[in-house]
Amino acid sequence: METFTIEGGRPLSGSLRIQGAKNAALPILAAAVLAEGQFHIYDVPHLKDIDVMLQILNELGANAKHTDGCVDLDTTSLSVSHVPDDLMGQMRSSIFLAGPLLARLGEVTISRPGGCLIGERRIDLHLAGLTALGAKMEEAEGYITFRAKQLRGTNIFLSFPSVGATENVMMAAVLAKGMTRICNAAREPEIVDLQNFLNAMGARIRGAGTDTIEIQGVPRLRSVSYRIIPDRIVTGTHLLAVGVAQGHIELTNTIPEHLTALIEVARSCGVEIKTYHDIMEVKSTSRPRAYDRIITSPFPGFPTDLQAQLMVFLAQAKGTSVIKETVFEGRFKHVNELARMGASIYVDLGSAIIRGVSRFTGTSVEATDLRAGAALVLAGLAAEGTTTVEQIHHIDRGYDRLELQLQRLGARISRISQ
Ligand code: UD1
Repeated sequence: METFTIEGGRPLSGSLRIQGAKNAALPILAAAVLAEGQFHIYDVPHLKDIDVMLQILNELGANAKHTDGCVDLDTTSLSVSHVPDDLMGQMRSSIFLAGPLLARLGEVTISRPGGCLIGERRIDLHLAGLTALGAKMEEAEGYITFRAKQLRGTNIFLSFPSVGATENVMMAAVLAKGMTRICNAAREPEIVDLQNFLNAMGARIRGAGTDTIEIQGVPRLRSVSYRIIPDRIVTGTHLLAVGVAQGHIELTNTIPEHLTALIEVARSCGVEIKTYHDIMEVKSTSRPRAYDRIITSPFPGFPTDLQAQLMVFLAQAKGTSVIKETVFEGRFKHVNELARMGASIYVDLGSAIIRGVSRFTGTSVEATDLRAGAALVLAGLAAEGTTTVEQIHHIDRGYDRLELQLQRLGARISRISQ
């Protein structure tokens, strides 16, 4: 069991290169299953979820190694269509293998995926999408099997722009016969990255980043080398860390356009942000101003994955702010822990009403999920005294050694093994 110990009250300074995006790397690793050959994928962060994905790929018959941010993956002898149950249960992204394995092997068996407990996290849109492409689905004794000799292109309307369902359908449809059109598709930057990766493999996809994606099926794909985009949620977390702890930092390997919603909110609360090319300079020297109302929503709206970190920032602001969470209903678990550090937050019907306080006090708190855990670390950076964050395995799912990233920016944080 490991914990983070943070000595708060120290402004941040220095420069940090942002890790590659977890949410782009996971579907891209799954998509590599679609071709036989040797892949080199760069800027893959060292995270628990990536380890699980590579372990699954190895158990399916591929050969994957992860060294210094590069995954070398040989998918030539991949032949197993049943995703191992224990690994499937360890992370939600195992569902990404359904589409590509079905397309490559004509069959796939999965169990219900695990992942952060932040809401109901249904998979109905994934299942309906694969069925619409012509696969026969059977569900028995906790297993879901899809079979299709040849998938067929069709029009698919998503009742909600689910990121994962959009990606799963894209990956299955690239080898389908004919054209697939996904309407009300998710528009997240990670979907554009997946499109770019698949097109580099020889797929014919256009429209990612808009709400309509067209996929013209091709008979086969080839292996490639590829670099993953920077992680916008990690970038946003550090941006907000400066807002919370004060200081002046430079973030490199960023794509500021992926964070337009956050930048707008942070600027109007008083954080100075300058962007040039892939660099963001962030400066904050005083308590932020409150922000009237933020509503989380699919891209380009305010990302749910930054809601908890933003809440910590606003919990220290001058005045009262409101955050409404519309994507995951169970995503306010950090509120109780923040209250233990002195925050004043009231939750009612999916909205958090946040009355800013001038300081937090360090204590022992528990990370309940990935982003809630990151939020508690930010609170610890600003708190008086020592904060201990427990259950940090959640944080390790999304941040590549967060303590090293923050140490580089001058924070006093250490990982303690018990
Ligand atoms: C992805 C991200 C996650 C982020 C989320 C929303 C990855 C690996 N994870 O998760 O970090 O928080 O997008 O930006 O990319 N839904 C259904 N049926 C489905 C699928 C989803 O009803 O079949 C609902 C979910 O319950 C949720 C909403 O759609 O309320 C959003 O989920 P989705 O966009 O699918 O998120 P993920 O792909 O799981």
